[in-house]
Amino acid sequence: MTAPDQPLSLTRGPAWRNRFALAPLTNTQSHDDGTLSEDEHRWLTARGEGGFGLVMTCAAYVVPTGQAWRGQLGVADDEHEASLRDLASSIRATGAVSSIQLHHGGRRADPTVTGRPNEAPWDDPDRNTVALTTEGVERVVADFVAAAARAERAGFDGVEVHGAHGYLLGQFLDDRHNRRTDRYGGSLENRSRAMLEVVEGIRAATGPAFQLGLRLSPEGFGVPLAEGREVAAAMLGTGLLDYLDLSLWDVYAAPRGEGLDGRLIDRFTDLPRGGTRLGVAGKVLTAADAQWCLDQGADFATVGTGAILHHDFARRALADASFAARSRPVTREELRAEAVGPAFVEYLAAGWPDLVA
Ligand SMILES: Cc1cc2nc3c(=O)[nH]c(=O)nc-3n(C[C@H](O)[C@H](O)[C@H](O)COP(=O)(O)O)c2cc1C
Repeated sequence: MTAPDQPLSLTRGPAWRNRFALAPLTNTQSHDDGTLSEDEHRWLTARGEGGFGLVMTCAAYVVPTGQAWRGQLGVADDEHEASLRDLASSIRATGAVSSIQLHHGGRRADPTVTGRPNEAPWDDPDRNTVALTTEGVERVVADFVAAAARAERAGFDGVEVHGAHGYLLGQFLDDRHNRRTDRYGGSLENRSRAMLEVVEGIRAATGPAFQLGLRLSPEGFGVPLAEGREVAAAMLGTGLLDYLDLSLWDVYAAPRGEGLDGRLIDRFTDLPRGGTRLGVAGKVLTAADAQWCLDQGADFATVGTGAILHHDFARRALADASFAARSRPVTREELRAEAVGPAFVEYLAAGWPDLVA
């Protein structure tokens, strides 16, 4: 039986000291120009001090057109890189491995923030969105790759490509809408091509110890489970990833599609994965939940809400097998005491009313 306190070796880069990863959590604490703020620095380093094996940033935009909300972190230019350098060394000093989540909002970017129309796989005038040309897709792939190289130069141990939740790379997968006739539309192979090129490009542009992860949704956002599984299998089959971070929202959940039984997690833990590690995210709120994920065959547990509630969720869960996160809602003061800055507290209060009293 694998226990959460066992270190996790990966194909490339440093081993994680345990099986707890901090989930990428949008916290809207960055400056208007996308540079890192003191509050965001503190939010993340506190999670390193709190024992997480991997500390991941929020979704960070790889190019200004992809910015999806105000206060989003950027990894799109030299100034962003400079502001991230200090964070990388601070996270390393806590003993955690560091990663930046690379993001492009696509049709879910915000033109009122970016000041330009959105770019996506298909046109949508109602959303101020224009279809990317083939060259445009190649450019966006290059933007992801350049952002990864920037993260590496800033001193990060790796990056996670955000392929989940129906943002740009996930939009390509959506066959209800992606009717492109170039090599980025049509067959599932074509619809996954942008994601694959991002992964291949990052691998080619970064060093042999740079850790590369990919976040995927198992189903939804126009992707049926059978295709979600096929994409995961293909990406695992490349051998280019160090980990796959599966965003289940509830690790115990059943598939949504009609006539599908069992649990979602089981449809992924059984895929051949070679040396690629598999993580799962969603409602891991107790030490027992994390142990359950490992018992199902996952290699690590990705923790979001639990890590908002306790900066040291990992350390507490490692010390006490009966540990459970405090019950919600919690007060603003309790959140502030866990190094959740004012902008993040207000963002949570607006979007997650059952979390904040
Ligand atoms: C406030 C908040 C912000 C989030 N931001 C991101 C994000 O930037 N990128 C991402 O991939 N997922 C994001 N998620 C999803 C989390 O990473 C995680 O998968 C999800 O919350 C389920 O895990 P949990 O039940 O432990 O919170 C966010 C979730 C929350 C609650």
